[in-house]
Amino acid sequence: MTQIPATLIRGDGIGSEIMEAVLAVLEPLGQPFAFEERPAGLGAFESQGDPLPDETLGSIGRTKLALKGPLTTPVGAGFRSVNVRLREAFSLYANVRPCRTILPGRFSDVDLVVVRENLEGLYVGQEHWIPIGDDPCAVGVATGFNTRASCRRIVQYAFDYAVAHNRRTVTVVHKANILKVLTGVLLQEARAVAKAYEGRIALEERIVDACTMQLVLDPSQFDVIVTTNLFGDILSDLIAGLVGGLGFAPGANIGTEAAIFEAVHGSAPDIAGQGKANPVALMLAAGLMLDHVGRTTDAQRLRDAIAATIVAGIRTPDMGGTASTADFGAAVAQAIQEIPT
Ligand code: NAI
Ligand code: MG
Repeated sequence: MTQIPATLIRGDGIGSEIMEAVLAVLEPLGQPFAFEERPAGLGAFESQGDPLPDETLGSIGRTKLALKGPLTTPVGAGFRSVNVRLREAFSLYANVRPCRTILPGRFSDVDLVVVRENLEGLYVGQEHWIPIGDDPCAVGVATGFNTRASCRRIVQYAFDYAVAHNRRTVTVVHKANILKVLTGVLLQEARAVAKAYEGRIALEERIVDACTMQLVLDPSQFDVIVTTNLFGDILSDLIAGLVGGLGFAPGANIGTEAAIFEAVHGSAPDIAGQGKANPVALMLAAGLMLDHVGRTTDAQRLRDAIAATIVAGIRTPDMGGTASTADFGAAVAQAIQEIPT
């Protein structure tokens, strides 16, 4: 089979370790991607003075497909999130985050998908300070916006996703009791779009705070969730917690100009360099990337091999095991070879 050109960004913190494990499991699948490796993140900023070099943007512009490790963003000050810039540069408007139980914990049957609006809301970076007296930063102000067109597009994406993946319900999560305009526009568009799917996909509505409580009590009542940028960010980590933690949650950033696949988690500086990060989330992201390019059999083999490895008791410390990131990767690579094609 021909290799598909794609860009690879190792990223910061645990990025290199987990990416090595992912490359090891792509090997027995015949290395489906011809990767161009490019820098980004804090590492690129420190070595080249630019957290998102032109050569990286140029590569993704050509390949329109990328697998990306986590990127560190300075908190409070410093350069703007490279993740957010990548989403804007390639109009990656849909952030799709499927979450499934592999290792039963508190819940054994979580299977839901968050479709997060990825470009607007409070993430548009329009922030400023207002001075009062001799305090130049007396008031912090952020302006968020959600366009009707983008709300329609993301809800449409969620419904089409539900149809394509045999799902039954789309739940729109909002805060239109308080943010009547900012999140009300999403709710209005959800109601409008849902009409075309009547009898096939049901629309449910939840206010975000109540939704978090319901997710923690009984996640099985949810199927596909569509929501704004900030709520989607928060709910994704919460949902990752329902299936054993951030080590299990992959994400796809789908856009009109490109698609970028990554883990939901960040660069985990607290465990970086120790060889104990869980590479499953990035492996599952590679699985979503295989699905995206039509290699669905390979994607399923990868998912089956990950599950088989965990069931066999080979687990990284966050799963309660002692396997290193590299050991886990080698075990999944071995399991892939044992699955009949
Ligand atoms: P984080 O997701 O990096 O870590 C949160 C906690 O989860 C930590 O205790 C970490 O050790 C653990 N964890 C995360 N991934 C894990 C894995 N694969 N295996 C085992 N444990 C794992 O979030 P945090 O600490 O808030 O952010 C660290 C940096 O990552 C920040 O600079 C942040 O901006 C960045 N970040 C980047 C993202 C991206 O590139 N898409 C997404 C989220 C955060
Ligand atoms: Mg997040």
